[in-house]
Amino acid sequence: LRLGILASGRGSNLQAIMDACQNGFIPGEVIIVISDKPGAFALERAKQAGIPVHCLEPKSFDSKELYEGAIADLLAGSEVELVCLAGYMRLVGSTLLEAFQGRIMNIHPALLPSFPGLHGQRDALEYGVKLSGCTVHFVDEGIDTGPIILQAAVPVLDDDTEETLASRILEQEHLLYPQAIKLFAQGRIKVQGRRVKVKAQE
Ligand code: GRF
Repeated sequence: LRLGILASGRGSNLQAIMDACQNGFIPGEVIIVISDKPGAFALERAKQAGIPVHCLEPKSFDSKELYEGAIADLLAGSEVELVCLAGYMRLVGSTLLEAFQGRIMNIHPALLPSFPGLHGQRDALEYGVKLSGCTVHFVDEGIDTGPIILQAAVPVLDDDTEETLASRILEQEHLLYPQAIKLFAQGRIKVQGRRVKVKAQE
């Protein structure tokens, strides 16, 4: 499976995905990494692994359509089959959604539909839930609203801070995202309306 990754920051999920491809867990390859932030450490990680990187800043384009059109062209030019958002801090618009319909995944650090948005860990902590976790889902036009593929739960402990909870969740993210990508690569994911079903292995 040919993977394209969009990332804005640290890139630890990108690293987990590259590692899972490298060690054969995912039958696929990261073909291209694109960032909207020139300083993103994700770009360094990709370069380190010998993967082509591109940085496209929205401010260099006259509109979101043109910005996303350029991203879609890069992805299509590399014959990407699945796009994975890994800490990509922008809302995906119709241009990219239409170019890769049903083929964009995201990981979110909370158990959706609870606590969507930029501060999943903090919001869960402040709300007082006793379980949180992470969610891999397909991307649609909403904020963290697309069909849910996989989830993993972790406990919220009394002495947690945003940082300790985030790192407990992150550990699970690094396992969950490669699993979801593997299922997609194996052709085992079936979407029926909002429900994503995983076919048994043949
Ligand atoms: C992760 O917590 C992910 O769930 C969220 O953004 C963070 C990205 O971290 N969408 P990293 O850049 O993959 O290290």
